[in-house]
Amino acid sequence: MKTPTAKDHKTVSNDEFGESLSIASILIVDDEPGMRNFLFKILTPYCRRVEQASNVSDAAKLLDETHFDIVILDNIMPKENGLDWLKEQRKLGFYADAILITAFADLDTAIQALRVGVADFVLKPFRSNQILNAIARCIDRQELRRENYLLKYELAVENLCVRGRLMGRSAEISNIRGILNRVAPLPTSVLFTGASGTGKEVAARTLHGLSPRSNKPFVPVNCAAISAEVLANELFGCLTRNSDGETTQKDGLLFHARGGTLFLDEIAEMPMAVQGALLRVIEEMRIRPIGSMREVPLNLRFMFATNADLEACVKNGTFRADLYHRINVVQVEMPKLIQRKGDILELCTMFMKTFADRLGTMPLPLTDGVLVKLASYDWPGNVRELRNLIERSLIDGEFPPEFSDSGASEIGLPDSLESVERRHILTILKECDGNRAEAARRLGVSRKTIDRKCAMWKM
Ligand SMILES: Nc1ncnc2c1ncn2[C@@H]1O[C@H](COP(=O)(O)OP(=O)(O)OP(=O)(O)O)[C@@H](O)[C@H]1O
Ligand SMILES: [Mg+2]
Repeated sequence: MKTPTAKDHKTVSNDEFGESLSIASILIVDDEPGMRNFLFKILTPYCRRVEQASNVSDAAKLLDETHFDIVILDNIMPKENGLDWLKEQRKLGFYADAILITAFADLDTAIQALRVGVADFVLKPFRSNQILNAIARCIDRQELRRENYLLKYELAVENLCVRGRLMGRSAEISNIRGILNRVAPLPTSVLFTGASGTGKEVAARTLHGLSPRSNKPFVPVNCAAISAEVLANELFGCLTRNSDGETTQKDGLLFHARGGTLFLDEIAEMPMAVQGALLRVIEEMRIRPIGSMREVPLNLRFMFATNADLEACVKNGTFRADLYHRINVVQVEMPKLIQRKGDILELCTMFMKTFADRLGTMPLPLTDGVLVKLASYDWPGNVRELRNLIERSLIDGEFPPEFSDSGASEIGLPDSLESVERRHILTILKECDGNRAEAARRLGVSRKTIDRKCAMWKM
């Protein structure tokens, strides 16, 4: 059945209920056609999807097919009491909210309703606003629960340093920024590759921030950090049954991330068994929590990252070829720090400020001596190594000897911005064997600027 949307009903405004109702999918279970029609008519202009069932067995069939956010349930029906049916459904893996509508509200019913976890109780007869408000409250609570879950998850697993935005003005980073801007509005999945510490996660977060999903969650999952079974449960959710036959449902991260972005980090480390399940999810955009009889449709953008050579993993049989082709649609290769030394000054300044604020210490001066040494180092650990060096130095109150400024500046200039700049440009030029075009590219400035500076310094 086609469900009318808010657009079909010109007179209805959604403002009163915020955005809550527009995302809701609702199942009405009531034996009275009059009540079903009344509910259907008032809900369809506001809600994303509304379905109806005249008895509990039809309702169970609909629940097998689709996920509903809320079931509006009549309690007294000819064959089965609504609350008894709800109790049975809980065992099968139905954990969405239920709103009970009844004309006979006695204390026993209320207690029983509490026990099976009914979210709200609306007495018949009711006005349309009463039921709309009850639904909006339910959806708001669901969103709060999800936000709370994701925030706790983020606090437990996340390296808070990765929150920053993608810094740097070198040609390499500008190029990456250009790609991110181009793919941001698309639903396409993106694979970030490159050595450890090059900023794959920072880039993925930046892309999420630029995308139309930016106000929805960005959920990172490190595939290397957890065992196959735990990873599958974490991703897809699971239904567990205790010895008394009572079930509890744990929603997976894919479900919690709905509407947003799921970032699967270290994807090469994903166990084979989970790879197969993931491929199905990406292709069908539906998940079935482990142990559950019911599938849930998904709305997610996927991003992946790895510092491994995925093609080699496919060749040696540790990564599924079909999954590789499915995720390798747009690939963004993050450059090593050694390829963009021009960004060192900006990154250092940013890390120095961030960590000095966090540690409550004074920033260490980035003298030309220090910068020269930073620029002549290879940075095998890339930006992460640079960040760690700055943090450690702030804790120690000085740079380690190999990076510290040994005293007076070699060319005797005062420690002005100009001297720092001169030293930095000269170091990069030296690294490029005097090739000014290459030095300009690494520094993210024009060739003319380098020529002008060199002329000024009579070089
Ligand atoms: N361009 C950048 N701008 C700002 N910070 C950056 C940038 N690149 C990297 N960083 C910082 O470097 C650290 C490492 O970045 P990130 O975790 O994104 O690297 P990665 O490529 O995912 O590394 P790994 O493969 O080891 O997981 C982070 O703390 C991040 O703050
Ligand atoms: Mg990473």
